[in-house]
Amino acid sequence: EKGNYRHFMQKEIFEQPTVVAQTLASYLRRSDNSVALPQFDFDLSSVRRITIVACGTSFYAGMVAKYWFEQFARVPVDIDVASEFRYREPVLEEGGLALFISQSGETADTLAALRHCKQNGQTIGVIVNVPTSSMAREADLLLPTHAGPEIGVASTKAFTCQLAVLAALAAHMAVKKGLMSREEEQEVVAHLLEAPACLNAALDHDDDIASMAHLIAPARDVLYLGRGPDFPLALEGALKLKEISYIHAEGYASGEMKHGPIALIDNEVPVIVLAPSGPLFEKTVSNMEEVRARGGQIVLISDAEGLEQASEGCMATIEMPKVHPLIAPLVYAVPVQLLAYHVACVKGTDVDQPRNLAKSVTVE
Ligand code: F6R
Repeated sequence: EKGNYRHFMQKEIFEQPTVVAQTLASYLRRSDNSVALPQFDFDLSSVRRITIVACGTSFYAGMVAKYWFEQFARVPVDIDVASEFRYREPVLEEGGLALFISQSGETADTLAALRHCKQNGQTIGVIVNVPTSSMAREADLLLPTHAGPEIGVASTKAFTCQLAVLAALAAHMAVKKGLMSREEEQEVVAHLLEAPACLNAALDHDDDIASMAHLIAPARDVLYLGRGPDFPLALEGALKLKEISYIHAEGYASGEMKHGPIALIDNEVPVIVLAPSGPLFEKTVSNMEEVRARGGQIVLISDAEGLEQASEGCMATIEMPKVHPLIAPLVYAVPVQLLAYHVACVKGTDVDQPRNLAKSVTVE
């Protein structure tokens, strides 16, 4: 079943161009470059507030989507991990939309949060990879990811497919609310359709990342930094590394470093910086300089333009294709997944079945 791959996780990382294309195909219409969601009787233009609830990697997909819903559809988003959401007496206004993101569709805390929202008059949107799951059955608005079965415990292809669905949904909502013109919609759709090719270009760096893994594998702690929609990617990178290589890792918003975590930096701590060139680049680079001035060993993940500007003095770099900001979170997921994967291989851990973890967490 693994074909030529050593692990399911590796196979699933490499399937991403195909499964993201499959997922996009069911939400985007190529003939006129428009977004086409499944039919449902709920008026998306009336949504005044979105509540997003998920766990782990699916939660990070929701964090990325918050930027999109707010930027495109101008709808405020309240997001929380399911285990916290349930116990904080969230304010749920009548007519709100609650979105639940889950690969398995069975995560106990997320499912309980879904039921709580349903009881409190929310319309239930579910982004799920297992179409027969409990969450899928209880959805008002079912938005499946078409990632195919994900066997590796560490989620990879489900994440990028979740992002694809969420981007389409945010754009669709913007159109419905009259905030996105026909031309803008066509442009967004065209950029989303570029994602599979860009994922392929990112995967081409597999060998470089495999050699770099030897630099990271001896570390005791690793930090990941990102800004804007790349901040959740930093959290995702850290989670992937922790769960399969057992190296302690944390993700931070780049600008938050100087408020504490920079105290951790010395020349033994690799710092992985996710920074596509663009409006946020300069700021992230200055945060990177602060880290470098304290001896931090930087791995810069950026495009050719960004690397040209800022790779001097880095321990290593990973070149990503130059992509539209909308699809950057999908594309930058690849190097963080591959880095975690190769570090785990160097360390000889059980990549597909990491210790203490289960694929589907059905206890609260
Ligand atoms: C991380 C990972 C977990 C899951 C989390 C939610 O690689 O796999 O953090 O993302 O347990 O699972 P689902 O998406 O099935 O609700």
